[in-house]
Amino acid sequence: MTSLNRLGAGAIVAAAMWMLCATAAWAADAPPAETKQQHDARMAWWREARFGMFIHWGLYAIPAGEWKGKKIAGIGEWIMERGRIPVAEYEPLAKQFNPVKFDARAWARIAKNAGMKYMVITSKHHDGFCLWDSAVSDYDVMSSPFKRDILKELSEACKAEGVVLCFYHSIMDWHHPDYLPRRPWDKRPTEGASLDRYIETYLKAQLKELVTRYDPGVLWFDGEWEKTWTHEHGIMLYDYVRSLKPSIIINNRVDKGRKGMQGMNKEGDFRGDFGTPEQEIPATGAPGVDWETCMTMNDTWGFKSYDHKWKPADDLIRKLADIASKGGNFLLNVGPNSAGEIPAPSVERLAAMGKWMAVNSESIYGTSASPFAKLPFGRCTQKPGKLYLHVFTWPADGKLKLPGLKNEIAKAYLLADRDKALSVSADGGVTIALPGEAPDKIDSVVVLEIQGPAKVE
Ligand code: GLC
Repeated sequence: MTSLNRLGAGAIVAAAMWMLCATAAWAADAPPAETKQQHDARMAWWREARFGMFIHWGLYAIPAGEWKGKKIAGIGEWIMERGRIPVAEYEPLAKQFNPVKFDARAWARIAKNAGMKYMVITSKHHDGFCLWDSAVSDYDVMSSPFKRDILKELSEACKAEGVVLCFYHSIMDWHHPDYLPRRPWDKRPTEGASLDRYIETYLKAQLKELVTRYDPGVLWFDGEWEKTWTHEHGIMLYDYVRSLKPSIIINNRVDKGRKGMQGMNKEGDFRGDFGTPEQEIPATGAPGVDWETCMTMNDTWGFKSYDHKWKPADDLIRKLADIASKGGNFLLNVGPNSAGEIPAPSVERLAAMGKWMAVNSESIYGTSASPFAKLPFGRCTQKPGKLYLHVFTWPADGKLKLPGLKNEIAKAYLLADRDKALSVSADGGVTIALPGEAPDKIDSVVVLEIQGPAKVE
């Protein structure tokens, strides 16, 4: 054997040993393989929930869309990027973060009273500031004057109110010195920076803190579009988080499968348990695919003092019904201000949604997509044995027509008036006789009790 060959053989042995070790480490990290039944069981609470609260909150609530007296265009939580603010100038905001009006229990109640079953809060957004007491970071709430672990308080409050606490966690980090790529205007030297070290000693360490301390129901990643983040990273991170808590649910932004803002995955084998359409509602449902539309109530996720473009409550209620009728979840955003309050216009809208849900939530929770391709008067959701007709446009002649429905109707009634049976006639389809006045001018729900699965021709 020449020395070169000996070196080659040694290298092969070393490589083989490394691979063995790597495989072993991989196996320890990988989530247990899952049958369809186990997968359905893991997704069950989330599919039942249908409606959750998104919360974007962090240092950006202090400038609230303005920097050095200038209004910065774009969404509030991106002010650091849009305003090209150097780390050294943005970071001191932490010394001003003192949301004395923050009341975790009040937030959990606002969500619950709206009919929301879960809450997804930014544990860390792209700016890198952490809302909990992180052992691996000084850029967290403990180094602010506030000095209270916000996520701990929320985890207790959510538990008490029966709301599932979940975290949005940004992969991208504009503050951490090891994170790459740097923003083009960030002048800190990149020499010695290491994305691998960021992932191994920071991102993963923080996720371990979040999962083991606060027991989130969902980890909602974002920032995966960066060119340094790879499909392999996505696999690794998904498997790592599942290894920490096998029953956790993870969105598709952990990996590289997402097709733009529409949020569903392109063809291929990508990690992630649900699609994430952003600011849009898919035109149709996606059979066999779990998805969640995330949406703002005005035009920003993080608080901006001068964004008053609020969507009306009527519109938000119909959007909730529309999304449920296509088999999706609705994650509706609030952006609390720097004092720690959810803005009044958001609270008002959530109260209006809660009022509608108090009567009609049966037509949202645990429902699946409509069996009808299209309905002229509104939307339809269903559960075994029941069709829920969401009537947006109350028929002037009092006749609600469902052409093509072939089931026999055992019973028909309004959720707003359950004891009063509505008369039904079969005429090739089904026609329901409605009272003259809609009980709810935004969305009145008519229940049809049927035998077996819906048959629509
Ligand atoms: C976008 C934005 C981000 C926001 C997210 C919510 O990806 O970058 O600021 O948190 O949408 O889906």
